Amino acid sequence: MRIHQHVNPLNKKYLVVPPMPEWSKVYAKPFNPLHLDLGSASGYFLLQIAQKNNDWNYLGLEIRQALVERANRWKEEKGLHNLFFFAGHANVVLKPLLESLPMGVLQYVSISFPDPWFKRRHQKRRMVTPEFVHILATYLHPYGKVFIQTDIQELHENIFNIFISNPHFKIVDKQVEQNPFGIMTEREISVLRQGRPVYRTIFEGIPEENRMSNLNNN
Ligand SMILES: C[S@@+](CC[C@H](N)C(=O)[O-])C[C@H]1O[C@@H](n2cnc3c(N)ncnc32)[C@H](O)[C@@H]1O
Repeated sequence: MRIHQHVNPLNKKYLVVPPMPEWSKVYAKPFNPLHLDLGSASGYFLLQIAQKNNDWNYLGLEIRQALVERANRWKEEKGLHNLFFFAGHANVVLKPLLESLPMGVLQYVSISFPDPWFKRRHQKRRMVTPEFVHILATYLHPYGKVFIQTDIQELHENIFNIFISNPHFKIVDKQVEQNPFGIMTEREISVLRQGRPVYRTIFEGIPEENRMSNLNNN
């Protein structure tokens, strides 16, 4: 199988919104709480976690189609009915994807080592933008959580500032020492093996009635 290391998210083919899945055919229990992993790559992380937690559904969103097809084959082989991988450009498909899900199921979002796109002219390829965070805020359960981790301090600061500028989110923990799932992502394993630091933060959604008081606390 040929897998590209990187794809250009500005390529026109990623702007097409694919048909949305029929969730009642995807998950055995479509109304269970859902954990969405953005940039799920090989699916390694969700394949581990979905086997441990039967009472949650897991959804991986990844731009590289070949990885998604392989990850869905692996989850079929394991007989998992609480896991699914969807191919698409997160900034294009996030809204229609979340809109298609049963209302209120999205309770956890993880974003691990999103591509940093360092160069100034490449910044518009970054996944986490104010618009992106606004969409997450719209569909995340009122007390839902977002976990972010990266080895790039500058990117971490950038993402952190975008989340705290959104009145729907508050910080649970700015510097999380350990991965809270007890299962590391592939990139996390590789970064830690190299002895490099990982910057992790957890945010929590704020129910509408509590948002004004949070403006003073963040
Ligand atoms: C550095 S890898 C990290 C993979 C995995 N989360 C981990 O921690 O091992 C970033 C992943 O995000 C995917 N990706 C990048 N931009 C994306 C986008 N706009 N939409 C969906 N996936 C994207 C890449 O293809 C890649 O698999």
